Amino acid sequence: MKKLNIINPFNAPVYHEETVSSTMDVSRRLASEGEPHGTVITADFQEAGRGRGQDRVWQMNRGENLPFTILLRYPRVEDIPSALTLRAGLAVSFAIEDFAPCLRSKVKIKWPNDIIINDKKNAGILCEADGGIVHIGIGLNAAQKEFPAALREKAVSIALAADKDIAPEERFILLEEILARFFDELNAQKNITDWKSRLEQRLYKKGEQVVFVEGEADSGREVKGRLEGIGEGGELLILAEGETQTRAFVTGELKIFV
Ligand code: BTN
Repeated sequence: MKKLNIINPFNAPVYHEETVSSTMDVSRRLASEGEPHGTVITADFQEAGRGRGQDRVWQMNRGENLPFTILLRYPRVEDIPSALTLRAGLAVSFAIEDFAPCLRSKVKIKWPNDIIINDKKNAGILCEADGGIVHIGIGLNAAQKEFPAALREKAVSIALAADKDIAPEERFILLEEILARFFDELNAQKNITDWKSRLEQRLYKKGEQVVFVEGEADSGREVKGRLEGIGEGGELLILAEGETQTRAFVTGELKIFV
């Protein structure tokens, strides 16, 4: 496994492989081998990349995009920072704007953890945990300019959104920016209290009418209403049609791409 020569503020290695099954699997192996908090594994290609939800696969073109997993270690489950995946999304959204300033104010966060640009999905985040060990997997469309017909209306890369070519090595500059933003997000004192308001400023569909599917994607439990914001623990707040009290949801998905 090669080490990338980029700055990781967590002071941990950033590994790169050409081909892996899933960076989540490699991250688990690295955890079992004792690699430190903040270790990153990225790859050119995943043979069995996985998405959120049962049986969801995550496929990306070889060498054009940025799939990676950050390994975080906390002494106990109670020490895991609140709303960790949402805050990872926040960091990714800021880093994208650092990388491509023309996208400023266009990068949104779709609850619970998709990055949206121009109403299309740019990145997805998958969080897996074993006690206090957390693996944050991020799949970000970076340089890809052509998507299969089935995805063309749903997916976008930074190259397409910013109308610029991105060379393969530039993906790692973006990774460096994501790590810098994520480290600040987790460590800067002020961010502990203000992540919610910063997130709400870039929350996709905030104040709009939405259809939300509660629980599993095939649960059939649809809630129609206005998306009000985010609760203290990262839950999604919706004022359902005909109701007067906002409801808070911890699992589910907005019915947009599903
Ligand atoms: C989703 O939107 O469904 C989440 C997608 C997460 C994909 C990333 S790519 C890097 C890491 N490895 C995986 O197998 N999945 C995550």
